[in-house]
Amino acid sequence: TRTTVGIVGGGPAGLMLSHLLALSGIDSVVVDHRTRREIETTVRAGILEADSVRLLVDSGVSDRVHREGHAHGGIALRFGGTSHRVDFKALVGESAWLYPQTDVFIDLADARTRDAGDVRFGIRDTRVVDLTGPRPGILFTDADGVPQEIRCDYLVGADGSRSTCRQEVPEARRRHYFREYPFAWFGILAEAAPSAPELVYTHSERGFALISQRTETLQRMYFQCNPDEDVDQWSEDRIWAELQSRVAGPDGFTLNEGTITDKAVLRFRSFVAEPMRHGRLLLAGDAAHTVPPTGAKGLNLALADVRVLAELLERAVRENDDGALDRYSPRALDRVWRAQHFSYWMTTMLHTLPGATAFDVRRQLGELASVVGSTAGSTYLAEGYTGWPA
Ligand code: DHB
Repeated sequence: TRTTVGIVGGGPAGLMLSHLLALSGIDSVVVDHRTRREIETTVRAGILEADSVRLLVDSGVSDRVHREGHAHGGIALRFGGTSHRVDFKALVGESAWLYPQTDVFIDLADARTRDAGDVRFGIRDTRVVDLTGPRPGILFTDADGVPQEIRCDYLVGADGSRSTCRQEVPEARRRHYFREYPFAWFGILAEAAPSAPELVYTHSERGFALISQRTETLQRMYFQCNPDEDVDQWSEDRIWAELQSRVAGPDGFTLNEGTITDKAVLRFRSFVAEPMRHGRLLLAGDAAHTVPPTGAKGLNLALADVRVLAELLERAVRENDDGALDRYSPRALDRVWRAQHFSYWMTTMLHTLPGATAFDVRRQLGELASVVGSTAGSTYLAEGYTGWPA
């Protein structure tokens, strides 16, 4: 097969790029070793920045986010047992949207099918070759076991945090920046009514907890745990007792409980691969960077990458000049590092470090008080959370 842009990875980044390129009349092929069903059944984060929502709606992917998503005009920061609302609408005039990443994927996959896009799920043995030559290639075995070869002008690695495309950039030409955290998140889905109208980010002596939502009957919650925590050691009763104790306070806030239908431990890491381009290979989304989940920046950053990349690829193809692509890495990395800082900041402000002293905890409470008590402090949070302009 010949195509203009070969895309490894059929998650939201790869599919959105393929969709945006199609709108500009540029053909692409997307491959992914996962089946569509595997991607659809993995529980992911649920918050979209205002511009991510606009990108979905304005590019004609779907307006389902408007009908089924929920605009949140703020969040609560809860500490010392009291909730403090950060009012995004009043501070920056924007909302964040509660709409699961899984639904973003479904909308994009449906849009590619509707527009007769070439997307191949369930393939195996992917290899990328000739990245610095004029015709890079993707070699793989298709879902029927037949060897296939795609030759393209540009090759995009949108193959997630365990990217193999990223490994193709020679060590001498790349730098990897990495940070681990001594904790993780225990995430659950529970069949229960919502406990709060918006998200509640909670600092407590027992560690962080996040109360999020999905629907009127399904809720998403997380609590800080050890990275090697075994989900099987956690009965429903034990999970609810832990969550209730973390959100408890003099205002009597309690969570509505229900059957837990999903339990998983989420890794916490910060990672950036620079540059995001090598020859005709371009990296996008988690393949180039990972953020810890606090603040839900991962999907939003991936969509911001491909918005820039689609624009520059269009210019490169139309003008038959790779020069436009020189701007990709610096432009994308500017946002990536701001998001790295934001995610790190939200994380370290709200989580309890093992071995934290009384001073450390008091300082965090001082930081939280200065965020919610100051227009300057809470405006930074509101800007970062709802998303910086393109
Ligand atoms: C969700 C996940 C996040 O990481 C976050 O910061 C907010 C919400 C969620 O899954 O709902």
